[in-house]
This record gives sequence, C-alpha cells and structure tokens, in this order.
Amino acid sequence: MREQLANIRQEALKAIRSANAAAALDQVRVQYLGKKGELTAVLKQMGKLPAEERPVIGQMANEVREALTNAIAEQSKALAETALNLKLAAETVDVTIPGQRTALGHKHPLSIVIDEITDIFTGMGFQVAEGPEIELAEYNFTKLNTEEGHPGREWTDTFYISAGGDDPKNDAVLLRSQTSPMQVRVMEQQKPPIRIIAPGRVFRKDEADATHSPMFHQIEGLVVDKGITMADLKGTLNEVIRALYGPDSKTRFRPHHFPFTEPSCEVDVQCVECGGKGCSVCKGEGWIEILGAGMVHPKVLEGCGIDTEVYSGWAFGMGVERLAMRRFGIKDLRLIFENDVRFLEQF
Ligand code: PHE
Repeated sequence: MREQLANIRQEALKAIRSANAAAALDQVRVQYLGKKGELTAVLKQMGKLPAEERPVIGQMANEVREALTNAIAEQSKALAETALNLKLAAETVDVTIPGQRTALGHKHPLSIVIDEITDIFTGMGFQVAEGPEIELAEYNFTKLNTEEGHPGREWTDTFYISAGGDDPKNDAVLLRSQTSPMQVRVMEQQKPPIRIIAPGRVFRKDEADATHSPMFHQIEGLVVDKGITMADLKGTLNEVIRALYGPDSKTRFRPHHFPFTEPSCEVDVQCVECGGKGCSVCKGEGWIEILGAGMVHPKVLEGCGIDTEVYSGWAFGMGVERLAMRRFGIKDLRLIFENDVRFLEQF
C-alpha cells in the first residue's frame, strides 16, 4: 500500500503539471481526489490493514492528498496567469497611434439666420410658437380675412392636399402658403398680452429659379396687448434690423395691402452694398424689401375672441432665405436647398 500511495503521488503530480487548461486540471483532480478517485479507492481498503499499520498509512495518505491539493492550486494559479497574459497581449493598445477624428457638422446657413433672429426676439421677451405645415384653408385664409376670390386661394398659387368636404372654404387641406395662420392659432389659445414669433416652412407654386423656391421659410411675429400702435411696430422692427444689419442701417416703411392687417406696410432696408445709390445687389433700387407687416385687422382679432375695444396688435412676416442670401452673399437661392457639402462647408 505504501508503494501504491507513492505511485499515485508520482503519477498524479506529473498529470497535474502537464495539465494545460483549467478543464484538464479538473479532470485530473477528479481522477485522483474525487469520490471514485484513485486515492479514495486506496483509503477505502484501510480496513484490511493490520491495526498498527493504519495510522502510518493514514498519515501517508493525508500527506499525498495535501501534496496533490497544493499542486492543483499552484497549477490552477499558473494557468490563470498565462491566460491573463495572453489576453493582455491580445488587447495591447498602442497609445502612439493617432486617433480617428469624427467629422464635426455645423449649422446650415438658414438655421444660423433663424437662430440669430430668434435670439434677438427672445431677448425682447418674445416666445417661439410652432405650428403645422399642413394647414386648413380656414386658418391659412378664411380666419385671416382672406375670402373666396383672393388670388392666393387659387389652386394655381397654393398646394391643395384635399379640396375639402361640405365646406371647402374652410376644411380644404393645404400646405400653408405663409406662417400667418400661426397668428390665429396663437390668439385662439392664448390671452393677451401676446408676444410671439413663429419660424417655419411655407409652400407656394413657384417655379424654382435664382430667387424663387416652391418651399421657403418665413418668420411670423405677433404682438397683442393694450394700447399697441404702429409706433411699437416701427420701433421694434427698427431695433431688430439694427441688430441684424448694424447700428447705422436705415429702414423705410411703405404702405401696402394685406387682407389681415390694416393699415399694412412693407419694410425695406437701405442697400448696404451701395448705400442707397442703386447697384446690382438691390437691382438699382437702393432699397431691399425684407418683410410685410401691419396692425392686425379687427376682424381677425374678433374672430379669435379678442375684444378690439381693449386690445390691438401688430404682425409681420419676413422671408428667411432673402435675409440669408444678403447676409452670406449667396447669389442663387437653389444652392441653399441642394445640400452640396462644398457649398455648406463655407458657413
Ligand atoms: N403673410 C404675409 C406674406 O406672406 C406677410 C405678412 C405677415 C404681412 C404678417 C403682414 C403681417 O406675404
């Protein structure tokens, strides 16, 4: 039996040291130290030994068990270390390799202009309102005092999505041709005092050329409060134009007509290029038209439940593309929508 134990010890140690993976090592452990293992089998025969031999063999068996257990622990540690080293070697990072730069995008010229104007107005206490691009004829026209027969209502001018049902005058669905329906949407939902701007897309059946596009952007403005006059309109717009075009810029308010404002006007800025003498930029006019405006028509206010004995208001609508083209010297409007990166990268 001594011999048997010595053999087991020798063979087992050899097997442990040559185990090259955790699974193989565990197999060796089971083979020798498991319940049905070789060492266990020897111990089971202890009963057959003469009494005086038992403690000696018992001690020897314990020593073998201890030696094997220690050897297994050692080998297990060595295997884990090797595995870790392999993993680290495979995951080596060369910190001297230059990183990969992510290309950083930037704002579209239209967004630059819209954000700038929004900043100017919010600085004056205005809030930003947003509304649908798909609109009812009722909001785009009727509630803006634009009755049947107005050229804007014709299908040749405006994109209709559906002709409308029982009351085509109001429930026809269209792509809004102006941001002005936002005046009504805001006044129906808010009580005065109202100070809002509403930037957004508008659509008209215009052939695309250097100065026209069937889709373009406007910023609507609306103020309704007690005692609001045309002087407030002039003062505010002059301030905004100075912020946009510089402190020395000159403006001109010309009488005009819009169905939903009375009186109405158009506002021009003196051409910065020629100082008003007339050049190719202003097409010899000396002035550049930038927006339409006026005092909100009493019919529009009353249609929204606002008492015209107490309140009055003004509104304006400006074209964003035109401002962006002046601001960045863009000669062809189509460039703004073509999404050519070589063009867009310049801003
Ligand atoms: N909606 C008008 C247009 O598109 C502009 C405008 C807005 C005029 C508000 C007066 C008041 O031409």
